[in-house]
Parts: sequence; C-alpha cells; structure tokens
Amino acid sequence: MDHACAFFDIKSSSPDTSQPGSAAFPAWHDAPDTVFSSRSNTFIPQSVRSSMELLFAPMEGITDGIFRTTHASVFGGIDHYYIPFISPTVNGHFDRREMRLLFPSDKALLSAVPQILCKDPSLFLHCTDMLRELGFMEVNLNVGCPSGTVTAKGKGSGMLLDLDSLKRFLDQIYTSASLPVSVKTRIGYVSEDEWPALLDIYKNYPIEKLIIHPRTRQDFYKGPIHRHALESLDDLPFPWIINGDLTTTELIYQAVQQYHCTGVMVGRGFLTNPGLARQIKTGQKMCLSELVTFHDTLFRAYQAELPPNAVLGRMREITKYFSFCFAHSDKAIKRLFKAKSIEQYLDSAALLFSLPFIDDPCYPSSADVES
Ligand SMILES: Cc1cc2nc3c(=O)[nH]c(=O)nc-3n(C[C@H](O)[C@H](O)[C@H](O)COP(=O)(O)O)c2cc1C
Repeated sequence: MDHACAFFDIKSSSPDTSQPGSAAFPAWHDAPDTVFSSRSNTFIPQSVRSSMELLFAPMEGITDGIFRTTHASVFGGIDHYYIPFISPTVNGHFDRREMRLLFPSDKALLSAVPQILCKDPSLFLHCTDMLRELGFMEVNLNVGCPSGTVTAKGKGSGMLLDLDSLKRFLDQIYTSASLPVSVKTRIGYVSEDEWPALLDIYKNYPIEKLIIHPRTRQDFYKGPIHRHALESLDDLPFPWIINGDLTTTELIYQAVQQYHCTGVMVGRGFLTNPGLARQIKTGQKMCLSELVTFHDTLFRAYQAELPPNAVLGRMREITKYFSFCFAHSDKAIKRLFKAKSIEQYLDSAALLFSLPFIDDPCYPSSADVES
C-alpha cells in the first residue's frame, strides 16, 4: 500500500488534455458515472488557480466546527467554509448545538461563513448582529434547502414559491444587515423557467456573492443540473459561484472556464476527496496516511465531545464518503452501516482503510449517499 504523498506531475508537454473541449476533458455532467482512473494529467493554470475561490459547501450533520478545524489543519486549501444553517428563533440566543456548529473556530476560521435559514427579516437581522459580535464577517442566506419540513414553512427553497415575499425580505435585510449577506440559491421551485424572474430580483441587491445550485427544489440533489441557467451571467453586478456535482479538478476547471464564475462551492466532492482543494491549489494530492490522520483526529475529537451514539452517527456519516477512496469497499460499507457500537464501527473503518487506496478519488455522480 502506498503511504507516500504523490505530488502533481504537471505535464507541460501535453497541455491539450487540460483544456475544456479536448477529448480527454470530460464535459461537465457528461463524465462517466464512476471515474476511478488517475486524473493527474490535468492541471489548472496558476492564473486561474489564484483568482478562483474554493468554498466548502455547508453540509448539515457533517461540517461542524470540529470537522472544519480538523480539515483545515490536515489538508487546507479552502478559501471559506460555509457553516450548515442556523434557524434563528425568538429566543434570541444560540443554543449548545448551534455553538458547536459555529465553533471551535480558531481565529483563521472566523473567515468561515454562518448560514441563516429564516424568512422573518427581524430574526435574520438579530441573528446577523449576534454573529457579528462573535467575530464573523459575512452571513449567508439559505434559499436552497429542499426538505419538506423546511419548505412547508416557506423557508429555504420554499422562499421561491412567493417572489413578492422574497423581495420584501431582501429589501429589509439588505437595508439593515450589519454584515455583508451572500445568498445560496436554487434556480426555481419546480422549473428552470422560474430562473430569469428570480435572477432579475437578485440583481437589485448588493449581494456579497450569489452561490447558484443549478437545480430546482423538485430535483433535490439528483439528476442533471440545468446548465442553461449558468449561461449569460456575465452581466451580474456581484460575484457568483457555481455549486453542484463538481467532483474533480477537471470539472471544476471546466466550470470556471466555461461560465466565468468567481469560483466554486463543493460539498460531496470535498467530503470524498478532502485533499482536492489543496490539490487544485498546490498540486499536492491526498495520500492514504493523511486520510487516516483526518479520520482518527475527527474520531478522537468527537469522542471527547459527544456521547457514543452521536459519535457513531457522525463518524458513519463522514466515513461513508471515504468509501469512494478504496477499491472493493462494498463489504466494509455494509459493516459500517450495520455497526451498532463504537467497536463495530472501528472494525468496519479498519477494514475500509486496509483496502487498496484509489489514486485521485472522486465522488461518483451516480452515488446516493446523502439520503
Ligand atoms: C448531507 C447534506 C447536508 C446539507 N446541508 C446543507 C446546509 O446546511 N445548507 C445548505 O445550504 N446546503 C446544504 N446541503 C447542500 C450542499 O451544500 C450542496 O449544495 C449540495 O450537496 C450540492 O453540492 P455538491 O454536489 O458539491 O455536494 C447539504 C447537502 C447534503 C448532502
């Protein structure tokens, strides 16, 4: 088993393979479902790398303070982590779960961005004030969550059902918010035909960054993304970011080149290959020993903080993404899902980590691990 870190081999003699449109460069979303071959011939030119933002997507139940701090110390490469949503209530304070979500956060990680799921402008503004006092420098509005319990309350992507209310909400928060506000949005509730009208609304506000997940609420996280929604966005008056199914260096580069966005936000791709952002920035690929260190550090940190059942749930949620880093992982993953105790979990993780490590792993677009 290869425990050595392999550095990027930039093949300047074959630059064509890195260019969108070349035969070796799979079109975004035309890429095969499962790509386990080495992709190390692709590199992103320094000029693009240095100007492109790499954002870690908020992932409820996964990317809490412990996860982000550990990821930053083992791998790095992320410009900003977006924190899973907080739902402010009239209580006007953060409970223990929310504080765990926001922290631990060393000073460097105060560049992480908390996300607010809310349709009441006064709650949003109060929550923003509290986050500012804690030291955060941006807040993000969730206009994307597809969960039925959230949309039924008119929150998340439920906000897309009533554009007049959305406008009133945006009027108030952009008049009074004490921090810059970015927005993470889907392109419609039912159909991509809703996107032009929604975009016309967004254009009226000083949005810090518009993060676009080019699916509708009906799509949840599956099916092809709506590429047309990303065309003709050159005249947007604010920076914008693409999110969704960007799982490899090639796909990220292609998206940035093709659509001229400011950067990308990646969720499942960074969970499967936690070294991907660093690889894009420096060429240094993730190696097995780093993945093991990442896993073990997370495990110890959660064990120190949470009861055994919660540790089990949290680690299972994270480790299932690592299954795509190993060949023949079916048996280990079955054991992982059956694990009822910490001991059984550790057995299944040990089995997984003993399997052949895949060079340059990626989240396969056909996978369905989130549900
Ligand atoms: C388990 C899970 C939890 C998520 N939690 C959040 C969240 O708290 N806030 C949010 O805006 N999006 C959330 N998302 C959506 C992701 O941020 C992202 O938009 C989605 O996974 C698509 O990006 P990807 O294809 O790079 O993973 C979540 C997705 C998953 C699978």
